[in-house]
Amino acid sequence: MLITKDLKLAEVILRNYHLIPIVSRFGIQFGFGDKSVAQICEQYNINPVFFLEIVNAFNDKDYLPYEKLKKIPLSQTVNYLLKSHHYYNKVKLPDIENLIGRLEWEGEDADRNKNVLQKFFGRYLKEVKEHTANEEKEIYPYVLELEKNYNSEKPSSTFIENLTKKSIKDYADTHDELNAALLDLKNIIIKYLQPAKNSEVTKQILTETFKLDEDMKDHTKLEDNVIVPVAVMMETELKKRS
Ligand SMILES: [Fe+2]
Ligand SMILES: [Fe+2]
Repeated sequence: MLITKDLKLAEVILRNYHLIPIVSRFGIQFGFGDKSVAQICEQYNINPVFFLEIVNAFNDKDYLPYEKLKKIPLSQTVNYLLKSHHYYNKVKLPDIENLIGRLEWEGEDADRNKNVLQKFFGRYLKEVKEHTANEEKEIYPYVLELEKNYNSEKPSSTFIENLTKKSIKDYADTHDELNAALLDLKNIIIKYLQPAKNSEVTKQILTETFKLDEDMKDHTKLEDNVIVPVAVMMETELKKRS
């Protein structure tokens, strides 16, 4: 189903609850009555084209939003990516950590089981934190600076000179998907860990981990398919202009 601006936002959520975190990432609060997507976007001052591309991409894995998104200012995409980082680091990962804390086992291996799981989760947490911190400190600020210069009539000559030393392509080459640690975490729970007394918490941990993984994959696609190609184009243009 393609989500359009005239659909009621409530209808959209009722059809696909996976969009709940996406909608809240845009700052939209529940209680939106019968307002359409367009009305909500206006109320919250959100670019409706951008909003629709993002929700459609999350709603349908085969939907390819990238062409339209490439025409939207990078600053907007970066802003959205930052909110996603916040959601991973400050909401979702602490949630999973709390769930792990709630697991209980019987017998003398109880502590060992929890330690093993915490160790694997800790490795994953560290990877996500390092990855997102690097993007926030290095990559996103660079992209914003690049866009500013690209849009300026008088781009900074130092910035252009530095383009020979630094390129977004270096980031693209090393941009990993955080898969290894996450796969280990899933495997340890599914294959090896002794079943916990409260196994419904185990299932919750797994489900939340899979959901987070999917969300982060879409996030990476935005970085690879929107941020990188647009930044490459800007770098090439700026070099030509100098
Ligand atoms: Fe990111
Ligand atoms: Fe990333």
